[in-house]
Amino acid sequence: MIDQNIPLSQLAEQTAQQFQQRYGRAPKWIAAAPGRVNLIGEHTDYNDGFVFPMAIERYTVIAADRPSVTGRNDINWHCARTNQTASFPLTKPVPKAEPKHWTNYIRGVFAGFQNRGLDAGPLDVLMASTVPLGGGLSSSAALEVATATLIEIVSNQRLERVTKALLCQKAEHDYAGMPCGIMDQFISTLGEQDHLLLLDCRSRAPELVPMTDPGVEVLIVNTNVKHELVGGEYAQRRRQCEEAAKALGVPALRDATADALEGNKGKLDPVAYRRAKHVIGENERTEHAAHGVRASNWPTVGQLMYASHLSLKDDYEVSCAELDAVVEIAHDIGIDGGVYGCRMTGGGFGGCCVALVQTDATKAVAAQIADAYEKRTKIKPTLFVSRPAAGATVVKGGV
Ligand code: GLA
Repeated sequence: MIDQNIPLSQLAEQTAQQFQQRYGRAPKWIAAAPGRVNLIGEHTDYNDGFVFPMAIERYTVIAADRPSVTGRNDINWHCARTNQTASFPLTKPVPKAEPKHWTNYIRGVFAGFQNRGLDAGPLDVLMASTVPLGGGLSSSAALEVATATLIEIVSNQRLERVTKALLCQKAEHDYAGMPCGIMDQFISTLGEQDHLLLLDCRSRAPELVPMTDPGVEVLIVNTNVKHELVGGEYAQRRRQCEEAAKALGVPALRDATADALEGNKGKLDPVAYRRAKHVIGENERTEHAAHGVRASNWPTVGQLMYASHLSLKDDYEVSCAELDAVVEIAHDIGIDGGVYGCRMTGGGFGGCCVALVQTDATKAVAAQIADAYEKRTKIKPTLFVSRPAAGATVVKGGV
């Protein structure tokens, strides 16, 4: 019932072997970066608020070497998971592929390094990944951050980590056309094993919060539904938040309080009011949840997760029937059955839920959720457990 995670060392070894088979030589460099799950703090990052994600034991691994022939000035990139190959020239600037093409994330990162005067030079590349695609676990950030880590080792120059995460975010904005916040690239870059990352998205000050209690586990439930229109809905939510902040006379919703919102209710249209209500409440819940994790107060953290989900469903309107089904099932199992809390995670409209579960009940809980979810939706979910993992890693060829 529970999908096993392949350890990074094993995945890297497999990737090196696939590189060898494809290109007839061993890779000189191997870089990796993880996906993430957000425990709480959703749709707060672009409002200058707080997020509380962790890197997961699911990685994108990239193996590379210089081409065996001289005279090339391009990147030749093979994706083992989808068995697709693409190449693009290292002209300045690196050209964009057609909208939604998977190489745009990669191209954007190469372009970002070019803008900093860093030329990676031609490469043969093979990529593998265990981060679910389109599951709201930041497969795109994992790809961007792994690419940036590869370019760092190839060019023998390390960027300061915040600079690197921002470069990856810009790649997503400029090349993939997704106006994301900073959470995903930050956690994929700065994640530490056994720690959650409490990030103040205004100051960008990261605070690592240990999560080592053996009594709890993070269970990730992939609804295996992807809804289209996500990019458009996301951009619309951002605009609505900006409008709400303007109406409240603050630079960002981070600066608004629940009292100020109620006092100014008449100035906002009902939709903007509800969006603001979510963001203001979610920031409070996130700081509160960080205290809960520090104190190993799991029932409190769990209650905050349920409250977050309700707010995302009713006020922010980014949930969907399948995500709601998982949360309801988890809630019905309850603390007595081993579940402290559950909520949708990531951008929404499909993808995954995150549940906080008592370790000795994880197997039973996973089976119950999977059965009930499939009965209700006729869709098979995918479930896995992850400890908080380390961020971007150089596996081979680093300085
Ligand atoms: C996506 C974005 C993040 C964040 C979340 C919602 O994952 O990439 O920046 O806004 O949605 O919390």
